[in-house]
Amino acid sequence: MRRIGIDVGGSTLRIAEVDVASGECAGPVESLPMPRGAKPEAVLAALAANPLLRSGTGPIGLGIPSVVEHGVARTAAHLDAAWIGLDVATAFTRLTLRPTVVINDADAAGLAEMRFGAGRVPALRVPARRIIVLTFGTGIGSALFVDGRLWPNTEFGHLRLPGVDDVDGEGWAAASVRTRLGLDWPTWVARVDDYLQELQRLLWPEAFIVGGAVSAQAAEWVPLLKCAVPVLPAVLRGQAGVVGAALAAVDAAAAEDNEARIP
Ligand code: BGC
Repeated sequence: MRRIGIDVGGSTLRIAEVDVASGECAGPVESLPMPRGAKPEAVLAALAANPLLRSGTGPIGLGIPSVVEHGVARTAAHLDAAWIGLDVATAFTRLTLRPTVVINDADAAGLAEMRFGAGRVPALRVPARRIIVLTFGTGIGSALFVDGRLWPNTEFGHLRLPGVDDVDGEGWAAASVRTRLGLDWPTWVARVDDYLQELQRLLWPEAFIVGGAVSAQAAEWVPLLKCAVPVLPAVLRGQAGVVGAALAAVDAAAAEDNEARIP
């Protein structure tokens, strides 16, 4: 079965048709620039106009960098504030005439990594029950898994770190901070270590999976980490968001099917 997965990132919108059984994209991942201002009408209209959405009728999965409850965006960290309170699922369904499942972008990436990437058994070298997937990009996204099940909408990117007063965790250690400040790998990795150490102190995960675009260069920086917990580079890299969004569309559709069968 194929489903459309969409990943709304800080600067890029990605769309792909995904084979949800294999986790592979059926064609190239299409990238569109984030419309100026990142306002919901402009973003949703740009996505809805994509030819990939013209074929097929099944549910669409849409990952956005917001806390999402029942299709409604509750926060907007790298988006215009007009997203807050918007029923994104309904708005996109009106534009596309297709059911839409909306999910936090990092939760989507986490679902994909757990099913098809670094969190898959036996790719995972430790028999871990508690895993945190982190995406390092414009911000830091987080997805918390317990026995393979997601606790959605964790916002660990906004954790405050001891001794860092002016910014939150993502302001200290996101991949965008490395680029913006021109940090070399060791300097940035020391910041990522501060961040992982604080998460470890509070949550005691058995493994971290680190993703986002910067995971393409994992060989440069993951070995430099001093973190005591195993840190596994994400496998799906830039595709995790679209793959996970497509999975969410299927899972939500499956859940609805189940409900429909309850007498
Ligand atoms: C947002 C999260 C998002 C993450 C990665 C954070 O700033 O608060 O919702 O998952 O960035 O995009």
